[in-house]
Amino acid sequence: MKRFDGKIVYITGGSSGIGLETAKLFASLGAGVVLIARNEAKLEEAAGKVSSLRRSESQTVGTVSADVGDDAEVRRKMADAVARFGAPDILVNSAGINKYADRFENITAAEFDEVMRINCSGVRNVTAALLDRLKEKRGRVVILSSVAGLFGMFGYTAYGASKAALVGFAESLGYELRPLGMSVTLVCPPEVDTPMNLDEAKRLPREGRAVKGMGGFLMPDYVARVIVKAAAKRRFFVIPGFSTRFLYRLHRYSNGLLSRIISDAVIRKSRKRDR
Ligand SMILES: NC(=O)c1ccc[n+]([C@@H]2O[C@H](COP(=O)([O-])OP(=O)(O)OC[C@H]3O[C@@H](n4cnc5c(N)ncnc54)[C@H](OP(=O)(O)O)[C@@H]3O)[C@@H](O)[C@H]2O)c1
Repeated sequence: MKRFDGKIVYITGGSSGIGLETAKLFASLGAGVVLIARNEAKLEEAAGKVSSLRRSESQTVGTVSADVGDDAEVRRKMADAVARFGAPDILVNSAGINKYADRFENITAAEFDEVMRINCSGVRNVTAALLDRLKEKRGRVVILSSVAGLFGMFGYTAYGASKAALVGFAESLGYELRPLGMSVTLVCPPEVDTPMNLDEAKRLPREGRAVKGMGGFLMPDYVARVIVKAAAKRRFFVIPGFSTRFLYRLHRYSNGLLSRIISDAVIRKSRKRDR
């Protein structure tokens, strides 16, 4: 894999799951990393794991406790982070939540707004705060959306809306940044084995679980490898996992018809089974 010696990678959500695995991989390839999340204890623990994988002690491993959904806090803390750890060559936007996976009527307006604020505005806020510094380095912006942003799923009205918004955001931003020698990479994984899944399982209805089972299941270190390779090659769009890519193609080429027929059938079956 390509080395990243001397590069600095900022990773939101870097204390857990996909973000943490991505940080570990970048560190093992020579990059300095800055982990951004809210919980300081988790950040410190993650920084210890990342540090142990560095190729040299000169590689920075920094942590920043910040809520990506709070624009003023993000601006202040990113300015401070750039002064302390250096400007980013790569920004990986991995912070996200999916704790309100439920039927639409059970999701309150406040819960819906929280998902949009963290998953969607969070990407906007961190990207905006670091954009001028990324421009100076002809940098790379990576955005973690989801297959749930490419096709709708039972129980995902809030999460799916936030992830579909990121698809539009990434495509639009790509047009603006590519002429500057920069790149945007949109990553749409299926289900990945991370703490987010445990959070989601608390409320996700059985129909949602049944539909999700079709999409594929990946390990976070695999997704991290896909992310790092795509960022290195400045690719715009990646769907990790062969079967998920296949499903997505069926969805696209049938204009959504096949995925609707299959999902409706799976939902009917899961209801019958539980009667
Ligand atoms: N796991 C999956 O099945 C899956 C599938 C497709 C896409 N994705 C996407 O991949 C990304 C990473 O997910 P994951 O599974 O790795 O999740 P995870 O293990 O739950 O990690 C989420 C990370 O985001 C941070 N975070 C959450 N809210 C934040 C906020 N307001 N401000 C700053 N940091 C915040 C968390 O730390 P704190 O809580 O301490 O802030 C944590 O570091 C997400 O965007 C997710 O939507 C995940």
